[in-house]
Amino acid sequence: MQKAIVTAIRFLPDRATDPLLRSDREIGRPIARVDSVLKVRGRARFAAEVPLHDLSYAAFVHGTIARGRIDTIDTAQAEAAPGVLLVMTYKNAPRMPAPPMMMEDAKGASASKLPVMQDATIRWNGEPVAVVVAQTQEEADAAAGLVHVTYLQEPAATSLDLQRQKAHPPKTILGESPRIEIGRAERALARAVHAVDETYRTPRHNHAAIELHAATVSWQDDTLTVHDATQMVNLTRSSLAAVFRIPEAKVHVLSPFVGGGFGNKGLWSHQILAAAASRMLGRPVRIVLSREGVFRITGGRTLTEQRVALGATEDGTLEGLIHTGIAGMTTHNNCPEQFTFPARHLYAAKNLLLAQEVVDLDMVANTFMRAPGESVGTFALESAVDELAVAMNLDPVELRRRFEPRKDPTSGRAFSSRNLVEAYRRGAERFGWGRRNPVPRSQHQGEWLVGYGVATATYPYYRVPGGAASIRLTQDGRAIVRMASHEMGMGTATVQSQHAAERLGLPVEAVTFEYGDSDFPSGTLAGGSSQTVSIIAAVTAAAEMLTGELLKLAGNDSPLAGLKPAEVEGWNQGIRQRDKPENFESHGSILRRAQREDGSVEAAAPMPLKAQKYSMHSYGAQFCEAWVSKQTGEVRVKRWLGSFDTGRIINPRTAASQFRGGIIMGLGLALMEETLFDERTGRIMSRSLADYHVPVHLDVPEIDVLWTDVPDPHSPMGVHGIGEIGITGVGAAVANAVYNATGKRIRDLPITLDKLL
Ligand code: MOS
Repeated sequence: MQKAIVTAIRFLPDRATDPLLRSDREIGRPIARVDSVLKVRGRARFAAEVPLHDLSYAAFVHGTIARGRIDTIDTAQAEAAPGVLLVMTYKNAPRMPAPPMMMEDAKGASASKLPVMQDATIRWNGEPVAVVVAQTQEEADAAAGLVHVTYLQEPAATSLDLQRQKAHPPKTILGESPRIEIGRAERALARAVHAVDETYRTPRHNHAAIELHAATVSWQDDTLTVHDATQMVNLTRSSLAAVFRIPEAKVHVLSPFVGGGFGNKGLWSHQILAAAASRMLGRPVRIVLSREGVFRITGGRTLTEQRVALGATEDGTLEGLIHTGIAGMTTHNNCPEQFTFPARHLYAAKNLLLAQEVVDLDMVANTFMRAPGESVGTFALESAVDELAVAMNLDPVELRRRFEPRKDPTSGRAFSSRNLVEAYRRGAERFGWGRRNPVPRSQHQGEWLVGYGVATATYPYYRVPGGAASIRLTQDGRAIVRMASHEMGMGTATVQSQHAAERLGLPVEAVTFEYGDSDFPSGTLAGGSSQTVSIIAAVTAAAEMLTGELLKLAGNDSPLAGLKPAEVEGWNQGIRQRDKPENFESHGSILRRAQREDGSVEAAAPMPLKAQKYSMHSYGAQFCEAWVSKQTGEVRVKRWLGSFDTGRIINPRTAASQFRGGIIMGLGLALMEETLFDERTGRIMSRSLADYHVPVHLDVPEIDVLWTDVPDPHSPMGVHGIGEIGITGVGAAVANAVYNATGKRIRDLPITLDKLL
């Protein structure tokens, strides 16, 4: 790699407009996932499936108090149990500094900055107090039940309600101010002709990915290898290096397949404890959390209580918008659940008050969960907009059109690309919104009341700096593209093969995208719907560098002689001049003439400076038809349409699947998901998918999705992230449809039948 060139590229601003913004040879094709055959045949190997010689198995003993100290811990019986190799507690665990925390430390993958198993202190109900390692998983699980612990309990803060007077603003919300005030919103509200002012509540949620959290770890001398299920191989490597006080080069994290992440497949105590136990034991260790373990030691989405107040004039000018509230958090993490983010960018309010506070609780560190903030924030905001439309006797789509801002209402920046009104227009037409009767209880189907609801979906555009990619182009016309990125089921390898093929002028079959390995050029995390565009930016930089190298190699005998990278493009397994396409030479020909087997480059993505100049977001309109039983109060979502405006779509097939997956998760949020938390003990009571309900096939109707496909000129390849926007707006669209069906306004998620009877 040429270090000097890499540095130079890194600090160039984003180029004005990607020349391939509308190029559509491979981009836009609905190709099947490149790993589909592997997955269907069961040959995709996940973290808990890596075979290792001499493997041992770990199980955790969980603390049962929310706050206090371990008084006594008796491991004798467990140590004597069949197959047991090691029982680790704070007494014999190696000394380890606290893991670096995500969003606070540039090397952090941990959701919490608590030290792991270093002393007798207990900070949440469920914290691991012992690790039992045995020859088999069954022996480890059985022996874990033989560790006897007594506690000295201290009073714990486990109720948001009881602690609300201690609410305080967090230092920042993902780097933004927790409070934005423009004008005088309370006064505007008091003077408004039409106003609503309501409180909305959302419960705790847990990530329930099909794949349980798992790691298979081993040490070779002082080198640690971790087969992990993670959304962040690089940060996991740097965090484990810090915890075990070894150089990063001595930690190797592999994560080729992840069975769903949704925000909490980062670094938690289980990888650290497994690695510590493995080092003590001198044997490889596997840890697979039980579903109960996932719920108790990896954090979920926290609970919120939100006030939304809107005041409008007769003609639908939004005079005042207030969105405030509280969320439960801990003193040892930094995820305040950014529920006021949508209101910062959606509506042309003259006066705005957006402020959120947190309440410190003794619980496992809550964390990011698919559209953290936006998913529950849009429930409150978009329910309130619907309530205002009812109060004004105005169609909610029309009201939102009147609220549409010309520039970002809080930053004052221009929108990079915003076609929300168009998304609404198309969605309403295809859904048949015009057939809706605004009068509640006016549509019936036998015992069912029928209602239509609509809500806005929105999620920010993030491109994470720091990613780099390598490309090796061989004489036979194949390219291997590498970046330490992640495949959690969303189609990363597929769309990145398409992108690299488009960029390099290759057929998609000639490209292999390799990822999921911390030894590859540094990837960015798979989070914040940022990964696709972050990879594209790095691969684009690498492709540009490769083109430069190839042009140099081509020399004076080539039809490309004297051309610069900006004057050419990849075409038909070679390079051609943009405005004189007859000037062409194939990659193979260039390499052969230069007597080179291949061309290899590595380059870093330029800094995402455009995101500081423009208000960059994705948008959508969610349309719901819900049926509510007059007898039982059951809600059945009968029809769904999501109409999105998310920049350019690379692969309609994987994109539709992402949108649908988000919407389905939103149906869970709307109708069933709720982590049951015992406020007396601080213990999460939900133990399995039998009592933490997620939508099953029968809960999910046919989901129609469409998109504007308008490229954002300020984003590489014109794309936006799409992993999270699908879930946003869904809670409100369901609640609004339920209101239209029944005349009952449910402001407390989930919308269960008891609330409708
Ligand atoms: Mo997501 S909550 O950024 O995986």
